[in-house]
Amino acid sequence: MQTNDPAYNPLDDIDKVLVDEATIRARLKELGAEINQTYEGRDLAVIAIINGAIIFVADLIRELNIPLQLDSVRISSYKDDTKPVQAPEVIDKIRLDLKGIDVLIIDDILDSGATLANVTKMFQEMEPASLRTCVLLDKKTTRSVDFEADFVGFRIPDEFVVGYGLDFAERYRQLPCIGVLRPELQNPPEWS
Ligand code: IMP
Ligand code: MG
Repeated sequence: MQTNDPAYNPLDDIDKVLVDEATIRARLKELGAEINQTYEGRDLAVIAIINGAIIFVADLIRELNIPLQLDSVRISSYKDDTKPVQAPEVIDKIRLDLKGIDVLIIDDILDSGATLANVTKMFQEMEPASLRTCVLLDKKTTRSVDFEADFVGFRIPDEFVVGYGLDFAERYRQLPCIGVLRPELQNPPEWS
């Protein structure tokens, strides 16, 4: 990465694109239709797990034609590495009262399952009418907790991915596609 290089393009740091922009857009239309159908005639509370879900949620809710309220929760489970360094921790709580309403929790990626398992348990205590989860990506092979999402964008292999909201050390969230970083960038000493 050359931060002082005017020709720098974050896409150049990508080794391999797993899901391109057009494929994401097309899948979001399908997911949106699925969610619209599930909640037809209902009033929904969408809870985004930020920062990772920011871009996904921003695009997905514009496919929804049901009445909805949006809030977000900030959870930390990764520091600036590709390995989890601590148990999921709630850093910022939501403001909405979820009692008696339909809740859809949206995250960027389902990996070990620890984040969503914890977050759903926490929101279940607020007694919502229903509680479902939606993830853009599902790494099927890496679960340490028994957890499945109700709505899944793409199932991907067990590789560390960035882009479309997903980060490495808070970088690369702005990429329009989802890809794998070049190997030499996956652990740069200057970022740790
Ligand atoms: P889990 O708790 O292991 O399921 O992990 C969920 C969280 O880990 C996600 O919300 C992401 O922030 C992060 N994460 C897991 N895999 C990746 C990845 O491949 N790229 C970027 N972030 C990831
Ligand atoms: Mg993250």
